[in-house]
Amino acid sequence: MAQNGKKKIGLIGGGQIGGNLALLAVQKSLGDVVLYDIPAAEGLVKGKALDINQLAAVDGYDCRVKGTTDWKDVAGSDVIIITAGMPRKPGMSREDLLEINLKIMTDVAGNIKQHAPNAFVINVANPLDAMVFALHKIAGLPKHMVAGMAGVLDTSRFKCFVAEALGSSIRDVEALVLGGHGDDMVPLVRHSTVGGVPLTELIAKDKLDAIIKRTREGGAELVGLYKTGSAYFGPAASAIAMAESFLQDRKRVLPAAALLEGQYGINGYFFGVPVQIGAGGVEKIHTVELNDSEKAELEKSFQSVKKTVDSVKL
Ligand code: APR
Repeated sequence: MAQNGKKKIGLIGGGQIGGNLALLAVQKSLGDVVLYDIPAAEGLVKGKALDINQLAAVDGYDCRVKGTTDWKDVAGSDVIIITAGMPRKPGMSREDLLEINLKIMTDVAGNIKQHAPNAFVINVANPLDAMVFALHKIAGLPKHMVAGMAGVLDTSRFKCFVAEALGSSIRDVEALVLGGHGDDMVPLVRHSTVGGVPLTELIAKDKLDAIIKRTREGGAELVGLYKTGSAYFGPAASAIAMAESFLQDRKRVLPAAALLEGQYGINGYFFGVPVQIGAGGVEKIHTVELNDSEKAELEKSFQSVKKTVDSVKL
């Protein structure tokens, strides 16, 4: 909680996603924001904070941003979103970021443990499922207070392509993407509908297969276009949806990486599944009945996640 009684949002990493997170948090009046980055990026976070605070008058936003390089300012955050870490460059997989981003996560998670051990912490840094695993271990957070953002974004990408293919409103597309945040994530076509009509009745199989492929490679498509980094608007909006559900106790059911303890036959790993997020953090993990081919796809995705996580030495 901020001293003025508003909720406090700690953003760790003030780069592309961090800056957009700060803007969205202010525009949605979620609370006061602390935008933290390393000393080398002091000007960046102080500049972004000043720029956003100056924008507040235009539409009358009451929340403020503080740019800082001092972890003490992050203390007391209700929610923390981590985007500290290197983004991909063309030709790189998310796993290629493991070594460098694990070093950064070790620093960040240690500081969370010291300065903000009671926050609900959402990780966005890649490789997502391994980074959230490391975060949980190093920071010593209770399992319900840590989650990884990937499923909301992957699902949103899938919905975007479905709406585009049908020329329909994106609002009526209901879909779910499960599994790891990698090229073998699992869009659950059988569970997807548009205005209640099963997706399989609306889009031919070959077109649907192309949509699934584009969803799986959605991050790489943007890396290829941007060339200097990876997606930022979509990831920021997706993490804010999770933070908002926590801060306002909305109890939304969103796909996110949560610690599984036997669900889906997985034990001791973070993996993308539907979770309920409310004031208690990850309040529930929902189990979806899968058929044999969906189970096989999910297992393939899990094996990829497991391979990366098992290579993490803490
Ligand atoms: N503590 C805090 N911030 C750090 C640290 C650290 N130890 N190390 C690096 N940073 C900061 C950088 O200074 C930079 O400002 O993290 C920020 C990352 O910003 P960008 O390079 O713009 O990356 P962004 O596009 O925001 O993506 C961040 O999220 O989606 C993932 O793959 C992406 O891992 C990447 C992360």
